[in-house]
Amino acid sequence: MTAQTCIEATGLTKRFGDGATAKTVIDGQDFALHAGQLTLLMGPSGSGKSTLLAMVSGLLKPDDGKVIALGEDLWSLSEANREKLRLASVGFIFQGFNLFPALSARENVQTVLETMGLAPREAIERSIAALEQVGLGDRVDLLPRQLSGGEKQRVAIARALAKQPRLLFADEPTSALDRANGERIAALLRTAAHATGAAVLCVTHDPRLKDHADRQLWIEDGRISSETDATRQDRRS
Ligand SMILES: Nc1ncnc2c1ncn2[C@@H]1O[C@H](COP(=O)(O)OP(=O)(O)OP(=O)(O)O)[C@@H](O)[C@H]1O
Ligand SMILES: [Mg+2]
Repeated sequence: MTAQTCIEATGLTKRFGDGATAKTVIDGQDFALHAGQLTLLMGPSGSGKSTLLAMVSGLLKPDDGKVIALGEDLWSLSEANREKLRLASVGFIFQGFNLFPALSARENVQTVLETMGLAPREAIERSIAALEQVGLGDRVDLLPRQLSGGEKQRVAIARALAKQPRLLFADEPTSALDRANGERIAALLRTAAHATGAAVLCVTHDPRLKDHADRQLWIEDGRISSETDATRQDRRS
């Protein structure tokens, strides 16, 4: 059985700068994400991992190429419809935490669920469950400034998981976490894919994530390839 394709991008291209400083970061690449799979994207710093993630998730318009996301031609949609798609179906876990400073951990998760249209009671229950999943069951009432960096990162992860999105994008989700919590998040990302059928894309330098991945991609010099060449691991910093 072939996994359902949730993202199908063709001929993706992104350039930055012009003249002598022009750089083609992604060079006419095809890319797909499948339901129920955790896909890792690795590559050197500056190779375009975050840029690729932004283009296929509707945050950054490609210079060229097409992205079909959940059956929609992402970059032909109006900004309002793209936003609607993101709100209903997409979760993000970013390098910064983007938490609301005046809201507790629980409220940070809950707000997103209420924006999606969940009733307050269900939103509260789901928020607490998601925070428990990431190991923050005893931190739900604390404000971001009362949390450590790794704890804030886990709130952001709980917020994305609580949405139960069909598409989940994570950029270095385990970078601030110790071994135990890194493992826990990796397992949760895989569970999000396997149990809820989400298509999960995770950008990472973290070799611990490899054991949890269904598929590994490598990006370098504007090109995406399957991570099959073991020698590439030696080049990773
Ligand atoms: N808005 C921008 N304007 C100009 N150049 C940019 C812009 N965004 C990214 N770049 C350049 O594009 C290249 C790829 O950036 P990107 O952030 O995608 O890399 P990355 O693989 O995510 O790196 P890292 O692992 O360090 O996060 C870099 O050379 C970067 O300087
Ligand atoms: Mg990046």
